[in-house]
Amino acid sequence: MSATQPVSSLFGGDRSSGHGDSLSRTYGGPTLASAETEILMLETGTVLVTGASSGIGEAVVRMLARRDLHVLAAARRADRLHAVAEQVGCTPIVLDVRDPEQIAEVADAHPIDVLINNAGLGRAMGSLAEGDAADVERTIGTNVIGLIQMTQAVLPGMIERGRGHVVNISSTLALYPGPASLYGASKGAVHKFCRDLRVELAGTGIRVSEINPGRVATEFYDVAFDDPERRAAAKTTGIVELTPADVAASILHCLDAPTHVNIHQLELAPVEQIYGGARFAPLDGDTP
Ligand SMILES: NC(=O)c1ccc[n+]([C@@H]2O[C@H](COP(=O)([O-])OP(=O)(O)OC[C@H]3O[C@@H](n4cnc5c(N)ncnc54)[C@H](OP(=O)(O)O)[C@@H]3O)[C@@H](O)[C@H]2O)c1
Repeated sequence: MSATQPVSSLFGGDRSSGHGDSLSRTYGGPTLASAETEILMLETGTVLVTGASSGIGEAVVRMLARRDLHVLAAARRADRLHAVAEQVGCTPIVLDVRDPEQIAEVADAHPIDVLINNAGLGRAMGSLAEGDAADVERTIGTNVIGLIQMTQAVLPGMIERGRGHVVNISSTLALYPGPASLYGASKGAVHKFCRDLRVELAGTGIRVSEINPGRVATEFYDVAFDDPERRAAAKTTGIVELTPADVAASILHCLDAPTHVNIHQLELAPVEQIYGGARFAPLDGDTP
C-alpha cells in the first residue's frame, strides 16, 4: 500500500480464511491437504522493522514491501533508509532505539500491528576484558533495553486492538555457549524476555516469536570490530553463510502462520556451522 493510505481501513478486508479474529490474511499458496493447514499470508496492517538500513532488517523490509502492507523501515542512517524506500516504497523512519523519546514518538504516530525488533550489534566480541564500558552500554542499550522499550511502546495499542505480533531477532548465541559473553548475555536476555512476554500476553491475541540465526553475511562484523585485522579474521569463516534473505524468509514464515498458531522460536544456521556459532566446519577457525 502507499504510505498515505489510512491504516484504519486495513482490517475490513478478507477474513474468509476462517481465522478472521486477527490480521487480515489471504491464501498465499496451495492447501496442504494432508496437514489440513492452509498457507496464509499476512496481507494488511502496519509493520515496523527496526535496524532496517542494512542486513536482515533491510531484507525483511524488501520482502514485506511487496505486499499490501504499510512498512515502516526504522534505523539511524537516514541515507540508507531513503535509498531502500525509493526502491521499494516503504516509509523511512529515522529512529535510534536507544532513545525512549524517539520510540514513543514513532509508537504514538502509528498503529503498529507487527513489530520486528531487529536492531542490534555485537561489541567486545571474543574478549570482554578487551572491551570497555561503552561497549557494554551500547550492546545492552541496543539489544536489550531498546528492544524492550520498543516492545513496551507498541503493546498498549496491540492489546487494545486485540491483535499483534512481536518478532524478536535473537541469536544462536542466546542458546549455546560461545566466545561472546556480552553479546550472548544480551541475546540470552532477549530469549527470556520472549518466553515471559508470551505468558504475560496470554489471552490477548498477541503473538511473540523469537528468531535465532547462526552466522549471517551482513555488516554485523564490521560494526563489531574496529581493528581491521580482527574484523577480517572474524569475517573469514570459509563456509556458505546464511544470507539476510534466508533469515527474512524465516521471519515471514512466523508472520504467515495461521493466526491461531504462534511460532515461539525458530533457530536456523548454516549447514557448516557447528552449534553455538563459534566453529565452522571444515575449518578449525575459532572466531566469535
Ligand atoms: N549477522 C549475524 O551473524 C547475526 C547472527 C545472529 C543474530 N544477528 C542479529 O541480527 C540483527 C540484525 O543484524 P545484522 O546481522 O543484519 O547486522 P547489520 O547489517 O549490522 O544490521 C544492524 C542494524 O541495526 C541497526 N541499528 C544498530 N543500532 C541501532 C540503534 N541504536 N537504533 C536503531 N537501529 C540500530 C543498524 O542501523 P543504523 O546503524 O543505521 O542505525 C542496522 O540497520 C541484530 O539484532 C543481530 O544481533 C546477526
